[in-house]
Order: sequence, then structure tokens, then C-alpha cells
Amino acid sequence: MSGGGYDPRRVAVLISGFGSNLQALLDAAKGGGWPGQVCLVVSDQGQAYGLERARRAGVATVTLAAADFPDRSAYDTALGDALEAHNAGLIVLAGFMRILGEACVNRFAGRMLNVHPSLLPRFRGLRTHARALEAGDSHHGATVHFVTAKLDGGPRVIQYRIPVRADDTPESLSARVQAGEHIILPRAAGWFAAGRLTMNRDIPQLDGQPLTEPLVVQGEEQP
Ligand code: GAR
Repeated sequence: MSGGGYDPRRVAVLISGFGSNLQALLDAAKGGGWPGQVCLVVSDQGQAYGLERARRAGVATVTLAAADFPDRSAYDTALGDALEAHNAGLIVLAGFMRILGEACVNRFAGRMLNVHPSLLPRFRGLRTHARALEAGDSHHGATVHFVTAKLDGGPRVIQYRIPVRADDTPESLSARVQAGEHIILPRAAGWFAAGRLTMNRDIPQLDGQPLTEPLVVQGEEQP
């Protein structure tokens, strides 16, 4: 248990779709040596393939469809209640395509991580791969960051960085970036589960050292 009364090893994963990042976490948990345990998968889409991955791994699932709630606040309350009912210590947003309201984010402050497909602060929001190509960026990647009320704007923990190739398409770039997401997300979540990663006054701390800049994993040979 942490000082906050939750167990950081109990990891809940929020998804909306394919769930390849969820799979990376499930694989890490299965492999041994990863300090976390995926205790719950929540999806806002009943047809999300990630739910099937969770069931196959014997993990509890909850589907919360937006249409079943009168407003965002009711949705967020139900989501928070489900997370607490399963004693989730860490909440990982892994391709969860809903924006959480401030009250929900604050309810789990300092224990929500998100993986985003860009080198934040570049390209918050959607279409990140196409936007990186349109901008002519030499590098692109993914970021794991703590979630705050500012969309894709919370303190960054770790990034995966690759060079953009001359013949890249949004699809090819997305595939290479996702391979890196599957490295950095289990790594950051594992640090949190082990009690090594915390957030203190909006600054992530790893092994007691402030991360004023994110750690960077260089994913491919640099040109
Ligand atoms: C991931 O690439 C993740 O970075 C992105 O959705 C994908 C989900 O894939 N998330 C966002 O764009 C959030 N802003 P997955 O379901 O296979 O893990």
C-alpha cells in the first residue's frame, strides 16, 4: 500500500479499441519480473477487441457506454466507482478515446498514466502521425505522461523517439511508433507499480529524482 491508501501494483487499463497497449501490459504481467497486476479493463466500446484480450487473460472487464449515461459527470462518476470497486491503484489510459472531466482526473490525481502517439508537447489531440508528416518533422514518437485536466498536457515521464523516413505514411509511422509505445508504457507502469515513479507537485519523480524532462528511448538508429 502507498501512503495514499492504494496499492500501486493493482493496475486498471482503460481502452476503446484494439488494445495492443493493453496486450503489452498483460504480456509484461505474465512474463514475470513486472511488479504490476492488471486487475481490471474498462472499455467505453462494447465491441473493443481489447475486451477479448482481457477475458483471455482472465482479467475482469467493465463496459461503460457513453449512451447509457445522461452526461459526462455521471459517466465519470460510474467510471471512478468501478475503479475503486476493483481497488485500482494505477489507472492506465491505453487508447481510451474519451476525455475525462476534471473531477475524475482529480479523484485519481498522481496515479493516472496516458500513452499518447506524439512527442508531447507537439501534437496534442488526434491525427498525430499525419500532422507530424505534414509539419515535415524529422522525428516523431510517443509519450507516457501523468494525466491532468489539461488534455495531453500532464507531466511527461518517458518518450519513444524515432526518425521520420522520407517514404513514411501515417500508417507506417503509426506502426513504428506503436511498437515503441509497447516498450515505454509497461516500463512506466512498472515503475509506478514498484513505487519508483510518483508525482510530487506536478513533477514526476523516479527513484526520488525529479524528472523535469522526460526520459527518452531512441527507438531506431538515428540518421
Ligand atoms: C495508441 O496508439 C495510443 O497511443 C492512441 O491510441 C492507440 C490505441 O491503440 N491513443 C491516443 O491517441 C490517445 N490520445 P491500442 O488500442 O492498440 O493500444
